[in-house]
Amino acid sequence: MKKLITFENLPLSNGLLNDWDDTAPLFNLNVGFDEDTSLVHLYDNVPAELLFNDTYVYDSSQSQTMINHFRDFALKIKDMCKAPLEIGSNSGIFIEHFDRDKAVAVEPCKNFAERTNNIGIKTYPEYWTVDLAKEIVKNHGKRDMIFSANTISHIQDLDECFNAINECISDNGTVIIESPSFLDVLENKEFDQFYHEHNFYFSVTSMEKILLKYDLFLRDVSYHKDIHGGTNRYFIYKRNLGKSERLVAALEYEKNFGLDDYDKIMIHINKMKKNMEEIKELILNMNIFQKTIVGYGATAKFTQVANMCGLDYTNIQYVLDTTPEKQGKFVPKAKIPILKYNKKFLKNIDYCFLGAWNYKDEIMKKEKKWIDSGGKFITHIPWVHII
Ligand code: TMP
Repeated sequence: MKKLITFENLPLSNGLLNDWDDTAPLFNLNVGFDEDTSLVHLYDNVPAELLFNDTYVYDSSQSQTMINHFRDFALKIKDMCKAPLEIGSNSGIFIEHFDRDKAVAVEPCKNFAERTNNIGIKTYPEYWTVDLAKEIVKNHGKRDMIFSANTISHIQDLDECFNAINECISDNGTVIIESPSFLDVLENKEFDQFYHEHNFYFSVTSMEKILLKYDLFLRDVSYHKDIHGGTNRYFIYKRNLGKSERLVAALEYEKNFGLDDYDKIMIHINKMKKNMEEIKELILNMNIFQKTIVGYGATAKFTQVANMCGLDYTNIQYVLDTTPEKQGKFVPKAKIPILKYNKKFLKNIDYCFLGAWNYKDEIMKKEKKWIDSGGKFITHIPWVHII
């Protein structure tokens, strides 16, 4: 493993403070590169129990973009899946479209597991392990489709994760994994995608190499630009069915970009650091000229931008968010208050920093009136600019 970057003294990005006086525990965030598999990953990370528990606040159903993305895909494949399983089902916006008596879900955050259990989908409120996979096979039989979005990158023990998948998937079954593309993280300088929950930063290149360790084969990949800043959807099988044309093209593009080359990745990490300095400078300059700045979307990424850039409530007055579980709390360390989204809080505001930049188009549409009346957004993706 070779070190890429360490961000020092960061709080957990979703560890929102209930009270102003609360103190967030701080941890280093260490990012490294594995030369054998080309996988970028965290090392010396905090235990999973600190990250994923019954007070988990991320709710995928807060964005129409996500609802549409998962619904469209579920409706496309549902008739071909007799025994589907979702690992990390969160609010249920994918699995809810399948036959409720056939679908099984796994979600360790009990507040979310309860939601899908309540709509009749058997949801195991547990971490994904080999033991759980065996129990699911015993209770429901092998699965012909396993889906997991934005979860595999959170599971710190990849051996356990893929051994459990192998245990549970039928011989002719399809494993479908969605995970943000590390290529986009670098191309768009998304430094705020680095946070403790994201233990792994997969590329097509690293995914293919890792799967081989578990006798699994990557056959195809589709790309979804509007999901989490650029997401790959991987199609994986127990047998080697060859590689689709677009998979071959994606591997070639990444090879030319240098995703298997530590030195080339380092060049992009340095560009990211520059992006971090530029957004900080822009906000500080706006403060000097007494412009009012608030945040839009109290995302995990917003916590990272604020704390990685050393910004706090004196720089950004508050951040608006539609998620009830986040409202009334404070961004850890930066202590920026999170207010319930209401258009009136945008009145007389000069600039909104786009915390939820991954839903830029959805938000621009929603706030057209405010924009037409002179309101402006600030973003650092893919470069620092004002919209
Ligand atoms: P995510 O980037 O991790 O998916 O989180 C999105 C956050 O942004 C979530 O807390 C909800 C919030 N949000 C809004 O407050 N308003 C919006 O219009 C959208 C799309 C998201």
